Amino acid sequence: MINADKIAQLCYERFEQLPRRGKPEPGREWTLLAAVVKITRRADSDTVEKEVVSLGTGTKCIGQTVMSPRGDVLNDSHAEVIARRGCVRYLIQELHSAVSGGGSSVFCLADQRGKWRLQLGVSFLFFTSHTPCGDASIIPMTDSQPQPCPPVTSVKEHEGTDVGGDRKRKAEELSEGQNTKLACLVEQGPIEIKAKGPSDRDGVHLQIQDIHRTGAKCVPGGPADPLQSGAGYHSTGVLRVKPGRGEPTLSLSCSDKLARWAVLGFQGALLSHYLQEALYFSTVVVGKCPYSKEAMQRALVTRCSHVSHLPAGFSVSPPLLLQSRLEFPFSQAQTELRHQARQGCISPCGAAISWCNVTEQPLDVTANGYKHGVIKKIKTSVIFLHVCVFRSPLCKLELFHSFLSLVSATSPSALPDSLRKAELQTYWDYKQASQSYQQAWQQLHCQAFPLWPRSNRDLLLFS
Ligand SMILES: *[C@@H]1O[C@H](CO)[C@@H](O)[C@H](O)[C@H]1NC(C)=O
Ligand SMILES: *[C@@H]1O[C@H](CO)[C@@H](O)[C@H](O)[C@H]1NC(C)=O
Ligand SMILES: [Zn+2]
Repeated sequence: MINADKIAQLCYERFEQLPRRGKPEPGREWTLLAAVVKITRRADSDTVEKEVVSLGTGTKCIGQTVMSPRGDVLNDSHAEVIARRGCVRYLIQELHSAVSGGGSSVFCLADQRGKWRLQLGVSFLFFTSHTPCGDASIIPMTDSQPQPCPPVTSVKEHEGTDVGGDRKRKAEELSEGQNTKLACLVEQGPIEIKAKGPSDRDGVHLQIQDIHRTGAKCVPGGPADPLQSGAGYHSTGVLRVKPGRGEPTLSLSCSDKLARWAVLGFQGALLSHYLQEALYFSTVVVGKCPYSKEAMQRALVTRCSHVSHLPAGFSVSPPLLLQSRLEFPFSQAQTELRHQARQGCISPCGAAISWCNVTEQPLDVTANGYKHGVIKKIKTSVIFLHVCVFRSPLCKLELFHSFLSLVSATSPSALPDSLRKAELQTYWDYKQASQSYQQAWQQLHCQAFPLWPRSNRDLLLFS
């Protein structure tokens, strides 16, 4: 049995052990944490080994126009996405070691030529300190909650009581946060949020009622949210794009991505070349935060449970859903509790940290999709941004290059069949050649997520 509290504790400790760079300033900045935990059950003992193999923090997502056709920017730096990508790095390294005869604690040879599978007793669990953004964050309000005041109908109205000059920025941050400030306090039921500024000194407090919202908007091309007050504000069960600063993003919400990983696996198209079966998270553990098992079930499981006709190696594999009672010390709610007036505005931490258990450059800190600290120094000379030293090892281009080095390390006789075509060149080519994965995606797309934007080929032609 998995103990959710032990998993949460393990992940918080791993975070604590990381160096300070990129971590939030206590009491002023908050962030979100996600991790992939490898579980190993040994046949010869009752003990279960748990090891964090990848960890990510981050709250930001960059808009469409900043996206690069070179594949060298992280367009989505939500903790969940960072943690998954770090895990892919870790898995590439494990496979690299396996194909070079160095052994692996994860994979063993499968029966198809050039393919690998998980060792008996090994599985992967996903931890997140918070309810994923998007559909799972639309948490129903319980009927028992009293409604002494008319519900607040939008974040903007709430912001209207803020008399500081920072109003716009704050509004953006509110809508950028995963579970906006409102949602983060849902657990206590109707609560008073102290408005900062003069109105606070006057003792005027704001009653917040409908707090079960997400900043993520419905994907373009489908019906929009009804935006009625109370429970009629959002549609449920629909795909949503992540909120980003200013412009719209093309990145889907973390709820949507987790739902997708439960059908296609979290390994992605490239690693599917090497794997006989997709890799699924056995369990998703969420830290202490506003949480609804029903909303999680709807967002991560029900939306895809009817998908059929998947190719061999793929199956609808929903995770077990658990919640821990332990809260991340750098959550938004904890930060608000520890905040002191002299510290200035509470804000989401701009940096994203990735750590994964690989030998080369295990730690990576980025801001705005590039290496941390770079943007500030050379803001005016955009041209430098594409110099390789600034790329994160998690960006598509770097992951692709690690994958290519895995391919070169594989002896020709041990190459999987799907990689035996001479004409593969670009990232797009290698992804398309992953046939079963593409077939599975096709099924998922037409049966469950027809509005999921197809990736833009022009952005994936790098090599
Ligand atoms: C990383 O992996 C190695 C080899 O599997 C292991 O011995 C080590 O404890 C891991 N490090 C951390 C910090 O988990
Ligand atoms: C970044 O944008 C591309 C192109 O729209 C999209 O296909 C991809 O999924 C995005 N990356 C992430 C990590 O969301
Ligand atoms: Zn998210």
